Amino acid sequence: MNRFEGRRVLITGAGSGIGQATVHRILAEGGRVVAADVDAAGLEATAARAAADGAAGRLRTAVLDIADEAAVRSGVAAAVDGLGGLDVLVNAAGILRSAHTHETGLELFNAIIATNLTGTFLMIREALPALLEGASPVVVNFSSTSASFAHPYMAAYAASKGGIQSMTHAIAAEYGKQGLRAVCVAPGSIASGMTSGRGPGLPEDADMSLFAKLAPALGEGFAGPETVAGVIAMLASEDGAFITGTEIRIDGGTHM
Ligand SMILES: NC(=O)c1ccc[n+]([C@@H]2O[C@H](COP(=O)([O-])OP(=O)(O)OC[C@H]3O[C@@H](n4cnc5c(N)ncnc54)[C@H](O)[C@@H]3O)[C@@H](O)[C@H]2O)c1
Repeated sequence: MNRFEGRRVLITGAGSGIGQATVHRILAEGGRVVAADVDAAGLEATAARAAADGAAGRLRTAVLDIADEAAVRSGVAAAVDGLGGLDVLVNAAGILRSAHTHETGLELFNAIIATNLTGTFLMIREALPALLEGASPVVVNFSSTSASFAHPYMAAYAASKGGIQSMTHAIAAEYGKQGLRAVCVAPGSIASGMTSGRGPGLPEDADMSLFAKLAPALGEGFAGPETVAGVIAMLASEDGAFITGTEIRIDGGTHM
């Protein structure tokens, strides 16, 4: 499949997990990609795999903190410049931090909102002018099963993801007549840097019985990030041409 031939794609969170898998999927389908992440080492790994796949000529990497307004402004401008325009923005960058809500300091709460929700907003705002001049433009945002299903100890994270979901609907309505689609993926139970313990995990005294559902109905456990990347490739290609203002849950049926 070559659904991304000629398509210009900017992906955040591209140094690990789902964002990285999405880079490789879109390169494999012929796209040109700018891979952005705050983690330079992660981006080096992304670039090394692209080189091994013979796709290095269609990939650029950019160290970028999506929570930094000035960096987003210059980073998006440089990406659009390098690609000669923009057709697809994939906002995969995000952080997960868990804590008892009554022990969550304002600094931690604000940091999670700043990266996940405000960072996603900043990326969209800066990319919109180029996207609206692009071909069949698409924004793919990252919600989470935590936005719609109760996940204890993740109040700030769940709020950030619910906010992203609502923001996506607003953008889909606002720019639909100009041809832009905005969709969310809502992953769950995906093996990645985040779920293998980057950052603090659940509180030590977490009551696991509070999690209504933990196990996917499919398979033997968590799935790989490429399972989400394939859905993103569908959504951001013409195969997703009639999908906007909604979210697709990809969790192997954990939250049926
Ligand atoms: N893995 C899951 O089961 C799951 C479930 C629900 C939602 N998600 C969402 O999927 C997305 C991808 O996460 P993942 O699971 O691949 O985890 P991951 O930790 O492997 O990848 C996240 C990437 O985002 C980057 N990042 C973090 N803060 C950043 C910032 N300020 N600026 C730029 N980059 C930044 C990290 O460096 C990392 O490379 C996230 O938005 C996450 O919330 C994942």
